[in-house]
Amino acid sequence: MTADPPWALLAELTHRCPLRCGYCSNPVELAGRSAELTADEWAGVFRQAADLGVVQTHLSGGEPLLRRELPDIVAAAERSGLYTQLVTSGVGLGERRLGELVEAGLHSVQLSVQHADSDTSDRIAGARSFAAKERAARLIRAAGLPFGLNIVLHRANIDALDDLIALGAAWGADRVELAHTQFQGWALRNRATLLPTRDQVDRARTTLTRWRERPDPVPELIWVTPDYIDGVAKPCMGGWGALSLTVAPDGTVLPCPAAAALPGLDPPNVRDRQLSWIWRESRAFNAYRGDSWMRGPCRSCALAATDHGGCRCQAYALTGDATRTDPACRLSPDHALVRDLVDSARPPAGNPVHPYREGAP
Ligand code: FES
Repeated sequence: MTADPPWALLAELTHRCPLRCGYCSNPVELAGRSAELTADEWAGVFRQAADLGVVQTHLSGGEPLLRRELPDIVAAAERSGLYTQLVTSGVGLGERRLGELVEAGLHSVQLSVQHADSDTSDRIAGARSFAAKERAARLIRAAGLPFGLNIVLHRANIDALDDLIALGAAWGADRVELAHTQFQGWALRNRATLLPTRDQVDRARTTLTRWRERPDPVPELIWVTPDYIDGVAKPCMGGWGALSLTVAPDGTVLPCPAAAALPGLDPPNVRDRQLSWIWRESRAFNAYRGDSWMRGPCRSCALAATDHGGCRCQAYALTGDATRTDPACRLSPDHALVRDLVDSARPPAGNPVHPYREGAP
């Protein structure tokens, strides 16, 4: 089928990261440093992406600040006319480094935090990092950049939602994204300890409503639906090969960050192929594009026009078949798989530490 142009590029500059979060949804097998695209290769990717219609790029990882030439990479994206957002843990974002990035043309920053309590945040991250994040937030604010705070929610921090939103307000974030853990990659291994209970999510929703009803200005609050709990499939990536593409650190091009786990996809690489061919012609990008691959109940469901059958990677992770309806959807014949997992979730006890992420080679 004909593909409309993409508008966003997720540029995973490295899989290396100073944090070791157990909820990391990056693949279990990470790309090593020696396989990473060079700054020049990234410049070529940005040019091709802009030609294809992309207007913004998220510079992500791992931790993109670990790329010494990050200012050159930002400048290359800027030269191609792309809006750039740095997605960072904040570790390594000092005054000089941020100044270099702003000078190179950086447009906005999304900072992550694991908890409002510094010790708990460090424990979840598996590294001392809260103080660096606090400092990074101050610097981003002082630089006048649009500032988003990203918080991945799970059993060990969702009960602190009130404090987390207050932290976002205190740090001066323009928006706070409350994103429930995506059970892909490393996080899938830790699902049993990460999955919150229904009661926890209900309480969090009440807290969210209270904040949204406050008359005084608060950050914009983005609630990314907990699909396991709600029984509603998420319109993952806005549809397969519909809006965005991901370039992994080694140049592999994927319709979503987790798609490398799907069998038979044969994802292409920017070192071998032009991005325009990859987007329009490759098997990987056409595998689940549109609706011709769908089976029942999606085929005859009005929701399929908006949820696109849910997440392909999740369908595969739960059923072993990426063409099935996402089991998160309560209409899926496999929904009991998800319901049983949610029913067996237990409230947090003590100070659980999820098995920490192993680092990139
Ligand atoms: Fe791959 Fe949803 S994470 S399609």
